[in-house]
Amino acid sequence: ATPDLLDRHGRTARDLRVSLTDRCNLRCHYCMPPEGLPWLEGPAVLTDDEVVRLVRLAVRDLGVHEVRFTGGEPLLRKGLEDIVAATTRMRTADGGPVRTSLTTNGIGLARRAAALAAAGLTRVNVSLDTLHADRFAAITRRDRHRDVLAGLEAAASAGLAPVKVNAVLLRGTNDDEAADLLRWALAAGYRLRFIEQMPLDPHGSWQRSQMVTADEILAALQREFRLVPRPGTARGAAPAETWDVVDADGTRLGDVGVIASVTRPFCGDCDRTRLTADGQVRTCLFSTTETDLRDALRSGADDAAIGNLWRTAMWGKLPGHDIDDPGFLHPTRPMSAIGG
Ligand code: GTP
Ligand code: 5AD
Ligand code: SF4
Repeated sequence: ATPDLLDRHGRTARDLRVSLTDRCNLRCHYCMPPEGLPWLEGPAVLTDDEVVRLVRLAVRDLGVHEVRFTGGEPLLRKGLEDIVAATTRMRTADGGPVRTSLTTNGIGLARRAAALAAAGLTRVNVSLDTLHADRFAAITRRDRHRDVLAGLEAAASAGLAPVKVNAVLLRGTNDDEAADLLRWALAAGYRLRFIEQMPLDPHGSWQRSQMVTADEILAALQREFRLVPRPGTARGAAPAETWDVVDADGTRLGDVGVIASVTRPFCGDCDRTRLTADGQVRTCLFSTTETDLRDALRSGADDAAIGNLWRTAMWGKLPGHDIDDPGFLHPTRPMSAIGG
């Protein structure tokens, strides 16, 4: 057997996140300016075959068990269904299946959910920050709230379960919606997670003092719901801490998660490795260096050589982000080009 993706801090990467494009059809204030960003040129982006080759290598030789496709907006990638189908056919080194998932803004999902499920996609996480169409248009600069809701419904109907919803609360914009979002998600059967905003915007305007914290969100939820820590479920490598939501009689209504990347970092348990749309390995969202697999691939390197480049990159993974450190360096790639 070939060695897994280990780092010098004792972690092993099992979860690969692949960004399929840096482009997006929304312009969320915290992510992109109105005019968009300088997109990658076509030839810089890995072809479908190149993506599949690198994913296969990660799954077959490097110990990856789960592959999540992200963006920008991954539904903008025409070959998505084919890439998912090819990934689904892969087997891990011990002959096990590969789980595939998608993180999307949901636009266009209504049309494609059934085909994605047929291609073998296991589940989807859809971003939705507000229940109000006018607020959605203000946050994303596009009037597409209905498309996202339709995408969510289609995902559930197609059996892409569990459907998770990711919400970022922004001070003065939608920070009064925590309980409403939860009530809605419980009724619809979606698993809601609130995300602390991280310093990954392209304009460097993130301020810790402006961020809505996990504690604030939990306090707001507890004014309307009873939250019970999930018995016996250690978070493990998952970023979300999860609570059961129960009513006054103790009946379980569902659950809610909080991803507290800033106030309660989980880097010590991180099991992720990332591939950007232009074929660079990133060991962390906040990496300041990358390892170029595209160049190796295009200059004819074999799988063993590319595997070694990937292993070497991961060995150097830093212990964690230093958001609270005065010397913290904002990554040069914005979130949309890293893959959330
Ligand atoms: P699940 O497997 O469904 O739990 O997926 P996930 O929560 O890991 O993935 P998703 O793409 O839905 O990400 C939700 C939020 O977690 C986003 O805001 C991500 O940026 C954040 N997140 C994902 N991976 C990392 C990570 O490695 N580090 C940190 N700090 N945050 C992450
Ligand atoms: N901090 C935290 N989450 C972010 N997202 C986008 N930018 C940030 C940020 N700076 C979220 C999106 C989406 C998920 C993939 O990442 O809202 O739900
Ligand atoms: Fe697009 Fe996601 Fe950025 Fe919104 S947060 S503009 S959906 S990449």
